[in-house]
Amino acid sequence: MTTTITVDLGDRSYPVLVGHGARSELSALIPAGVKRVAVLTQAGIPWPVDPGIASIRIELPDGEAAKSLSVVEDVCRQLAGAGFTRADAIVAVGGGVVTDVGGFVASVYHRGIRFVSVSTTLLGQVDAAIGGKTGVNLPEGKNLVGAFWQPSAVICDTETLETLPHREFQCGVGEIAKYHFLGGGRLDELPIDERVAACVQIKADVVMADEREGGRRAILNYGHTLAHAIETAGAYDLRHGEAVAIGIRYAAEIARRLGRIDDDRVAEHERVLAAYELPTTLPEQLTDTELMDLFSRDKKAIDGVTFVLDGPDGVETVVGVDPEVLAASFVAVR
Ligand code: GLY
Repeated sequence: MTTTITVDLGDRSYPVLVGHGARSELSALIPAGVKRVAVLTQAGIPWPVDPGIASIRIELPDGEAAKSLSVVEDVCRQLAGAGFTRADAIVAVGGGVVTDVGGFVASVYHRGIRFVSVSTTLLGQVDAAIGGKTGVNLPEGKNLVGAFWQPSAVICDTETLETLPHREFQCGVGEIAKYHFLGGGRLDELPIDERVAACVQIKADVVMADEREGGRRAILNYGHTLAHAIETAGAYDLRHGEAVAIGIRYAAEIARRLGRIDDDRVAEHERVLAAYELPTTLPEQLTDTELMDLFSRDKKAIDGVTFVLDGPDGVETVVGVDPEVLAASFVAVR
């Protein structure tokens, strides 16, 4: 069974289809009037798609290396070489790397063409493919060049999750854990299709309220301040979702020390992270001082260190968190 969630953005609204085998519905989701599509994917992605119209295939390099401006140029040149115009579209088939690059190319090629994402990873399905954030990395940092460019449709085919390596799956699970505290409740008790659909619905609601992250959308970064610091600090053997899990446990401790949540709520954080078999302790080599330093360099640190924290009114952004509380809270993730 396929569930459809609508991201309601007026004349840029789009459906997100979630379900086992949902990619078979791709041809019906190609926007009216599109004459040809370029299917952007990576060699290791074993999921063929049938857009139902003329298509070319463009293969991106493997892994995160594909998220670069030189790859964007290369894809644009292939589109130009094939004579693609604004009447054509991109279909991005893959994980967050492919949908981020595909969306960004769609936002700039001929000043903007349409695109559809077929997301094949759990992380992509519950986060990256929804909401129109597109972009690539620079040597100076991740996602530093990008655009908000909403897709015409998104397909989250849960069949593709059956072949995901365990740690890739855990990467998405770290993001799912976050949604428990953004109103999701007991998501761990749902079958995977319903769990993905519930996360998409929460993300859609947040994006509809604040498409360009003027405020509320930042709550999607729950657990991410510490996660980004861990990722910036070095190449530890942690996937993004695992770093987010440690960040969620740390954020719960900060909230408890600030009197925003009680011990029971912290225990609920611990229960969720344990239910998903996610890590909750930092790599030993990382020092508190190093991480504190990275917090103050975070993109959101405008008036002191900003954290997304749970509290009596739910998860919200808190500006200027006391550095002593931040330092003391590391004990929970050591
Ligand atoms: N991944 C966070 C967002 O889409 O805003």
